[in-house]
Amino acid sequence: MLTFPDGFLWGAATAAHQIEGNNVNSNWWVHENEPGTTIVEPSGDAADSYHRYREDMKLLADLGLNSYRFSIEWSRIEPERGLVSRASIDHYRRMVDAAHEFGIEPIVTLMHFTVPRWFERDGFWRAPDAADLFARYTELALPVVAEGVNYVCTINEPNIAAMLAGGEDASNLVAYGLPKPDLAVADALLLSHQRSREVLSQVSGLKTGWTVATQAFEAAPEDGAAEKLKEIADPAENWYLENIAGDDFVGVQAYTRNIVGPEGIRPPRPEVEKTLTEWEYFPPAAGIGVRAAWELSGHVPVMVTENGIATQDDPRRIDYTRGALEGLHACIEDGIELLGYQHWSALDNYEWASGYAPTFGLIAWDKETFARTPKPSASWYGEVARNNGL
Ligand code: NOJ
Repeated sequence: MLTFPDGFLWGAATAAHQIEGNNVNSNWWVHENEPGTTIVEPSGDAADSYHRYREDMKLLADLGLNSYRFSIEWSRIEPERGLVSRASIDHYRRMVDAAHEFGIEPIVTLMHFTVPRWFERDGFWRAPDAADLFARYTELALPVVAEGVNYVCTINEPNIAAMLAGGEDASNLVAYGLPKPDLAVADALLLSHQRSREVLSQVSGLKTGWTVATQAFEAAPEDGAAEKLKEIADPAENWYLENIAGDDFVGVQAYTRNIVGPEGIRPPRPEVEKTLTEWEYFPPAAGIGVRAAWELSGHVPVMVTENGIATQDDPRRIDYTRGALEGLHACIEDGIELLGYQHWSALDNYEWASGYAPTFGLIAWDKETFARTPKPSASWYGEVARNNGL
């Protein structure tokens, strides 16, 4: 049996826009309803978790999980510039209270990709006052996290956010799938993170960090591949892990690996098993990401804030998760301080430009009635959590 440390946080993760439904004041809502984009479908009602969050948390608790990572939505809290929705703040406060009612540790993300429409309109992360605005939003969110919250993720995947801001046109692709990051946006995100952490430091005992998409870059054997890897990995990932010394924790979000040849990142070879997101099936990604984060950050404690697989083959989800957890246990054996594992995702959800087809959830739901059905992988994972190991 592989036993995890006492108090290990076994949970599942979601993001507001991907499950709540009708996030109408957000920038994504605008784009997903615009004709002619690469977004395959709009999010609509999503899983209606805005109204069903109690049911969702209770399901997770009944399975045996002890934590839940969810995000609060800036565009609901500040739907127009300077206009504050007290009702939305109360809503998220009720979510924190519900988590405690069900014996769940809430892990709250302040910004998971979506921002208010007005923030994008007024210059997005390139606006000179972007960090001020994010700090002000953090102030607004203080009542949500001031009591009963121990972990706050400020910004989700700043490295992906900076790449998306760099533009998706092919001329800007570093290589297969990865656009060049906009470095000015990266700077603005780091400053926003730091300013947000300053605001959050008013709450004593709160642990704060951001969450980084780790890519498990691997150099192909050819000459020049290692150099190319460094050229890609430094701005795409390493920078975000190297600049966070002093943070209370760092989140690792890992799914697959990327093989880098001298020409850049390669698409998965035809013979490898691929998931519904076309990523290579690669369970060691989580352990590799955790090791990278621990080393590059100078030993900031790590939490796996996302890891999972888009598949219709639920037994394969169990295999993948088991493989990931074995790799994480080895990290702990090697002395890495690992705080928890948040499986992506609690529910099937809206996978951004890819829409609803890639199913990452432990729990399925009916498109008409929204009735929830935990999958066998959910029971399996719940048992792992109850046993604190596998
Ligand atoms: C990372 C993102 O944070 C999340 O929103 C997304 O759904 C998953 N990875 C899967 O792609």
